[in-house]
Amino acid sequence: MLSDKTILVGVTGGIAAYKAAEIISRLRKLNAEVQVVMTEAATRYITPLTLRTLAAAPVYWDLFGEPKTWNVEHIALAQRPDLILIAPATANTLAKMAAGIADNLLTSVLLATDKPILAAPAMNHHMYHHPATQANIALLKERSVQFIGPDSGYQACGTDGDGRMKEPAEIVAAVQAYFTGISELRGKKVLVTAGGTQEAIDPVRYLTNRSSGRMGYAIAQAMREAGAEVSLISAPTHRPVPAGVKLIAVTTAVEMYEEVLRGYADADVVVKAAAVADYRPDRIAAQKIKKTGENLQLDLIPNPDILLELGKRKTRQILVGFAAETEDLIAQAQAKIRRKNVDLLVANDVTQEGAGFESPTNIVSILYPDGRRKDIPRLSKIEIARILVREIAGILEEKQKE
Ligand code: PMT
Repeated sequence: MLSDKTILVGVTGGIAAYKAAEIISRLRKLNAEVQVVMTEAATRYITPLTLRTLAAAPVYWDLFGEPKTWNVEHIALAQRPDLILIAPATANTLAKMAAGIADNLLTSVLLATDKPILAAPAMNHHMYHHPATQANIALLKERSVQFIGPDSGYQACGTDGDGRMKEPAEIVAAVQAYFTGISELRGKKVLVTAGGTQEAIDPVRYLTNRSSGRMGYAIAQAMREAGAEVSLISAPTHRPVPAGVKLIAVTTAVEMYEEVLRGYADADVVVKAAAVADYRPDRIAAQKIKKTGENLQLDLIPNPDILLELGKRKTRQILVGFAAETEDLIAQAQAKIRRKNVDLLVANDVTQEGAGFESPTNIVSILYPDGRRKDIPRLSKIEIARILVREIAGILEEKQKE
C-alpha cells in the first residue's frame, strides 16, 4: 500500500501516454495521492479530463495558465511528492532533462525538484538506440534517475525492438519496490568517507591521489535514499552533496581520522570509500619551497590507518572497507578483510577500464569474512552503491536475529 505517499506522475507525448491512465488508476487503488503533470504533446494523446478523473485531482500542463493554487506552481509541484514517476518518458523529455532544459511545466518541475525520479522510457527502437538517447540515459542514471525498462517487443510504429514501455502493472510494482527498499536503513546512523586526502608539502603544494569522491558520494546518496541518517566525511572534491546528507569537510588523513573517531561510537554503519594517503610529509614548509636545480628529498611519515583503528575498536558497528588494488585483487582484498576486521570489503581493480578512480562506473567484488564473494559487473557507481545498501541491510538484519 502507498497510503502515506504522494506520487507525481509526469506524462509525456508518446503513444504509450494512454497507459498512464492505468498507471494512475493502479496507484490510486494502492491509496497513493497522485498529482499529474502532462506535457502539451501528451494532452493530444490522452485528455487531462481522463487523467483528472482517475487521479481524483487537478491535472497540470500549462506553465503560463491561471494557477490552481497561489504558489509558484512548478516549485510547489516539485517539492510536494515523495517520488516523481515519468511514464511514458519520451526521448525528447529525457534529452531535455539531461540538458537541464525547462521549457514546459513538466521539465520545469523536473529541474526544480530534489525528489527521487523514476522514468519509464517509451520510444521507437532506433530512437532508443541512438547514441544521443543512450548518452542522455547514462547521464541521468549518473544523476540518480532510476529507469524502469524499456521492454522489447511490438511497437506502435509497426516494428519490433527495444523501447516499448513496461506494462503499467510492472511500473507500479517498481514504484512499490522503491518504497519498500527505501526504508531498509531507516533510523540507522551511517558514516561514509569519500575523496582523496590532501597532505600539504608547503603552502602551495600537496600530495594526493586521483579519487574524485564519486564512489563515496554515491554511497552517501544511496544510504540516504534507504532512510539512514548520513554523515559524509569528505576530503576535497568537486561533487555536489546529496540531498539530506550532512557534509563534514576535511582535508588531511589526520583530520579524517579525528572526525571518523568522533562519530564512531554513535554509528551503526561506517563505509570507508575514501582514498586515504598512507603517508604525509614529516614537516610542512612554512614558505613555498624554492627551486634550486638540485634534487629535492621529502621525508614521509605514516598516517594513521583509519580503517585498521576502527576494526580494533569495533563494538556493534558494521564496518565496510574498500580495497583499491592494481594486482592480485582478490588475494589482497581477502588479506585486508582479516587485517582490518571488516564485515564487508568492496574490492576494485583500479587498472580496469570503467573501474576505480574518477570513472562514473565501477566493477567490484564484494567479499565477506566467511569467504562468500559477489562479483558485480560494470555498473554506474550509484547502482553499485544501492547494491551495497542491500548487502549492508542484510548484515544488519542477521545481526538483529543474533
Ligand atoms: O572517488 P572515486 O574517484 O569515485 O574512486 C573510487 C575509489 C577508487 C577511491 C574507491 O572505489 C576505493 O577503492 N576506495 C578505497 C581507496 C583506498 O585507499 O584503498 P586501500 O586499498 O589503499 O585502503 C583500504 C581501506 O583502508 C579503504 O577502505 C581505505 O579507506 C582505508 N584506509 C586506507 C589507508 C589509511 N591510512 N586509512 C584508511 O582508512
